[in-house]
Amino acid sequence: MSIMVTGGYGLVGSAAVRLLAQKGEEVVVYDIVARDAEFLRGIDGPRVKSVIGDTLDLPRLIDVMTDHQVEVVVHTAAPVSTDIAAKGRPYQTIRENIETVLNCAEAARLAKVRRFIHVGSGAVYGGGSEPANEETPLSPSGGAYGVSKAAGDMIVGMYGTHYGYVTEYVATRIVFVYGPGRAEEATYVGPLVAAALRSHEVAIPRGGDYRAEFTHTYDVARGLYLLAKAPRLQHAVYNIGTGRQYTLWEVADEIARQVPGTRVNVGPGLPEGRTIRRPLDIRRIAEELGYRPEYDLQAGVSSVKRWLTTGEF
Ligand SMILES: NC(=O)c1ccc[n+]([C@@H]2O[C@H](COP(=O)([O-])OP(=O)(O)OC[C@H]3O[C@@H](n4cnc5c(N)ncnc54)[C@H](O)[C@@H]3O)[C@@H](O)[C@H]2O)c1
Repeated sequence: MSIMVTGGYGLVGSAAVRLLAQKGEEVVVYDIVARDAEFLRGIDGPRVKSVIGDTLDLPRLIDVMTDHQVEVVVHTAAPVSTDIAAKGRPYQTIRENIETVLNCAEAARLAKVRRFIHVGSGAVYGGGSEPANEETPLSPSGGAYGVSKAAGDMIVGMYGTHYGYVTEYVATRIVFVYGPGRAEEATYVGPLVAAALRSHEVAIPRGGDYRAEFTHTYDVARGLYLLAKAPRLQHAVYNIGTGRQYTLWEVADEIARQVPGTRVNVGPGLPEGRTIRRPLDIRRIAEELGYRPEYDLQAGVSSVKRWLTTGEF
């Protein structure tokens, strides 16, 4: 029996693979390319199998899930994985992001996978300041990206309802993930720590007032692990976050504190084209599964800095 992580070479997927492997699980990494071997450095033992495959290839998904006796799928692969990547490509974003979820859910059903965990986005809750819980009506922000994530969640919910496995087809919602393994393309924290280490200069013309729930990959991975291993779940949707937002000014100050000699210059206002998203209410996963976020901003910046300077995860 194994756990398959689609998009296992990505930021979120690789953290999930790392944790699952550390816990002694047999893991199948399913990704379109084995590009960043760095993500999985130190965890490519005999219990981690890497399979090159496309989530848009339904027959291959079914074969791999069946051949590896996959018991749980953690689905992180998304052809378009951020709202920034989605800009200017609404048709492709919606078509590919929806098809990837649909294929993985259908393959999981046909391969008799016990649990399917879809990694979605808090973008489905839209902007605002009130915390969003899992019952909050969907009001996606982030254009085609947010719409594709909401559609993905709904497809997963429909599979659970239609086939009578309501709490075995699970949607999760995560936000602003950062952590070791990738700095430059992550949201704010990673790129800013990298910039500070490179040039001791952090400069953003505007955005200091922007607030976001920066969530460490290891916290997301722990939430996914708890969901994968729970004998039974009580719900079909779970937020995985920290419940705490930080402004970009707070991020910049923390980086200046941890990278001595760094000059931080962040202008006021919001970054162009960004609205402040609602924080996640994480009580459901906390109360049901004992999830607690372990990385506040200080611990998170420190972990990215350690990885960038020593290569240690
Ligand atoms: N990173 C964030 O801040 C964040 C926030 C909210 C939600 N999410 C969601 O979490 C999931 C993972 O995000 P991430 O940041 O790890 O993304 P990522 O881009 O780092 O990783 C995605 C992985 O999926 C793989 N992939 C893409 N298309 C594929 C395909 N057709 N077949 C097989 N593999 C494919 C990529 O090669 C990559 O390794 C995505 O669904 C994303 O929308 C991410």
